[in-house]
Amino acid sequence: MAYKDMRAFLALLEKEGQLKHVDVPIDGRRGSNELQSLMNYVCSKNGPALILNNVSGYNTQGVPIVFNPFGTRERTALTIGHRDWREAKLHHAAVLGDPSRWIPPKLVDRAQAPCKEVMIKGAENIALDQQLPHVWFGKEGPAYITNAITFSKDPENGGRNAGWYRFTQFRDATHPLGGSYPPERAKRDLAAFYWWNPPFSDIGRHTFKASQMGKHLEVAIAGVCEPAMHLAAATGCAYGADEAALAGGLRGEALEMVQCETVDLQVPATAEWVLEGEVIYEETEAIGWHSNPVGYYDRVQVFPMVRVKCITHRRNPLWHATMEMVPPFDHNYIGLLPVEAEVLADLRRKIPEVHDVAVTPNMCYVVQLSVDGAAKPHNEFGKYVIHAVWGSAGRWGRTAKLVVVVGPDVDPYDMDSVEWAIMTRWQPVKDSLVNPSGPPMVLDPSCEKSAQFGAFRSEQMGIDATIKIPERFTEYPEVSKADPAAVAAIAKKLAGVV
Ligand SMILES: Cc1cc2nc3c(=O)[nH]c(=O)nc-3n(C[C@H](O)[C@H](O)[C@H](O)COP(=O)(O)O)c2cc1C
Repeated sequence: MAYKDMRAFLALLEKEGQLKHVDVPIDGRRGSNELQSLMNYVCSKNGPALILNNVSGYNTQGVPIVFNPFGTRERTALTIGHRDWREAKLHHAAVLGDPSRWIPPKLVDRAQAPCKEVMIKGAENIALDQQLPHVWFGKEGPAYITNAITFSKDPENGGRNAGWYRFTQFRDATHPLGGSYPPERAKRDLAAFYWWNPPFSDIGRHTFKASQMGKHLEVAIAGVCEPAMHLAAATGCAYGADEAALAGGLRGEALEMVQCETVDLQVPATAEWVLEGEVIYEETEAIGWHSNPVGYYDRVQVFPMVRVKCITHRRNPLWHATMEMVPPFDHNYIGLLPVEAEVLADLRRKIPEVHDVAVTPNMCYVVQLSVDGAAKPHNEFGKYVIHAVWGSAGRWGRTAKLVVVVGPDVDPYDMDSVEWAIMTRWQPVKDSLVNPSGPPMVLDPSCEKSAQFGAFRSEQMGIDATIKIPERFTEYPEVSKADPAAVAAIAKKLAGVV
């Protein structure tokens, strides 16, 4: 099944009792806001998606704020029509690994595109500080755009990229070094929050190539799109692959896209907002603080400007606001589903015994095998799998700081179960691999850093928690564990008593 737009997805959540409207006033001001606490509160209890109708201290009163739409594994699975997380992941991994299932987007006429219901064109008419919602989270200095997919083209061969990257807004933003921003920044500029030195992101390569050619990269930033497009944009596809066609494959139907007004790019026709502009690579600003997904504030980062020259949006548009912090937070799972699928799709092509890959919100990678002990294909099989994760395709597997490999009787989503396997099947010296020089998860504050480039190296560790037959033993004790069916039977027998 394919959703037409984010509104259709939200309507389904509401029908299922998974979305609530909040009219209680919520403070959205910089510094004193209630939004970080609200995110923690609803995400910690697997709470519903919210539509915040009454956020104060915010510049575009009347634009409802969509909050926590992806906050559970179940809701994230629903973005591509599944009720079950693992089924959604297997679906994603199968489509990702088979480009013949990708469906290229269909171009629709401008007049049929809801994203063009309101148009603001011409540099003199652009005032981002008034026309675009600004909401603050925690101690963040600026308000960030966190809901948008950026479309751009390789300046040499025209290949499209779509990625989910945030942007910094400058209205009322504090300067992290105590300086101030030129007033025109708040009106027309955003800071592009992606790492533009290759190979950190595909748009980074586009920006870099354009700068080498002395050109400003054209970008179209589409906010609050159809949810499969968001999932595809968060997926680390091979460079040159078209995420809009991946989205078509994931939803089983071509995505409708429309030509932009001032740049030679296309965007999803049912996006709530579209910002068209160019990356002015030679102008940069220091921005911060920014709350990151590993649970710390980045104090200062330097990013290039995007100069906006056209805004289009739907009538009565929605805005989705989310933040990152110590998990849990709203988009944990929509970030993790593609990471698990990327690594799973790649490992399964090479190693049929890989049954599942689960990545925790803190980015610990657990690989579950379908065999263990004597059924493993060869000695030291767990270590072979650890190396395969570090050499896997996609953006993330290679940065896995901690990989744990377990057998089929261990639940990779349950850290108690994983810990049990580690404590009873692993010896620290013989069953670990340590790589002193892996690529970093760039935000990990414990990684080695250079002044010029930030984190550039991470140490990595792999834990082989499989049963060491034949490596070390010829037999292993039987596991003492109650049978789930028997537990259900006793629960039924004692219903109302215990
Ligand atoms: C809500 C959300 C926000 C994200 N923000 C950023 C960001 O600001 N910068 C970035 O480089 N990646 C960000 N990511 C991760 C990228 O979307 C992801 O790595 C994706 O694969 C990038 O696309 P690319 O491989 O085409 O560059 C974000 C992901 C999500 C789900």
